[in-house]
Amino acid sequence: MPLLDVKGLKTYFYTNRGVVKAVDGASFTVNENEIFCLVGETGCGKSVTALSIMRLIFPPGKILSGKALYKEEDLLKIPESEMQKIRGREISMVFQNPMNSLNPVFTIGYQISEAPTVHFNLSKKEAWKRTTDLIRDVKITDADTRAKCYPHVLSGGMRQRTMMAMMLSCNPNLLIADEPTTSLDVTIQAQILDLLIEIKKKRRMSVILITHNFGLVAEFGDRVAVMYCGKVVEIGDVTTIFRNPLHPYTRGLLRCLPIGYKRKSKLGFIPGTLPSPIDTPSGCSFHPRCEHSTKSCKLREPELVEYEKNHFVACHLYER
Ligand SMILES: Nc1ncnc2c1ncn2[C@@H]1O[C@H](COP(=O)(O)OP(=O)(O)OP(=O)(O)O)[C@@H](O)[C@H]1O
Ligand code: SF4
Ligand SMILES: [Mg+2]
Repeated sequence: MPLLDVKGLKTYFYTNRGVVKAVDGASFTVNENEIFCLVGETGCGKSVTALSIMRLIFPPGKILSGKALYKEEDLLKIPESEMQKIRGREISMVFQNPMNSLNPVFTIGYQISEAPTVHFNLSKKEAWKRTTDLIRDVKITDADTRAKCYPHVLSGGMRQRTMMAMMLSCNPNLLIADEPTTSLDVTIQAQILDLLIEIKKKRRMSVILITHNFGLVAEFGDRVAVMYCGKVVEIGDVTTIFRNPLHPYTRGLLRCLPIGYKRKSKLGFIPGTLPSPIDTPSGCSFHPRCEHSTKSCKLREPELVEYEKNHFVACHLYER
């Protein structure tokens, strides 16, 4: 059984410009102890998917329908008080820019210890021990001194490590990392991701890694879902997707990858532009950019079907 099962998730924003269909029927599963990647061009709905799972969508946004089953409970239905217990303790999220999540007026030690102190009812001494252990776990040297520092004195990489320590502080089963390294330079990016993998292995947790970068998917991912216009269009093992990409969009993305793509490359170039999420094309939303598009592609939306074992695709080319 999967750890997380997202089915038909729809999250829209009701803006003055019109209805933004940010996530429009996305479905995927995340298994225990795996790195699951969500990949797609900017604006395709990756972050909104993650925020919906965490129930952090606020007006003018609204989760319209769908399920997010976690340990058989639907996260989209449970009361907010239940959800507060799940956030941080069961599922944690690391954001792209750690400075937005760290509070400048508290020391990092205080911020790391805050959640576990409340959740586990720790004494001051226990909380300090746990905090300095966590700081060591994320490979920040001189933990006792660092714990007393304020965020602004730390480098970008250190802040991201601090964020990870905070997110790990209550021992979550699932960590959602939303472009955790985009704001960092390439060498630091690699160090942070290597650290993430090491921690994941040690703690046997699952990670949803959100990224633009198919190179990172190849290097770190176990399974991957490709998103386009708020929907998952292909999903499978990373090795299978690289060996046998099915969806014309996935194929386009992989065709654009240079040789020796690992770690460096962003998504490549595909002819045409990403449609506006307010005015998404009828039928298959990829049809204006697809070289295989037929009349029925404009009329009918393809369903996500299992083409081969554990390899799903939403495209009329593969319907039987
Ligand atoms: N608070 C909001 N109000 C209105 N529209 C929003 C809001 N948040 C997101 N959107 C819109 O929803 C769509 C999906 O956004 P989302 O942030 O999920 O994209 P993304 O795939 O994470 O992109 P990126 O790779 O740039 O982070 C975009 O069109 C975005 O403009
Ligand atoms: S459904 Fe049609 S338009 Fe969409 S990706 Fe497949 S072939 Fe292309
Ligand atoms: Mg995003």
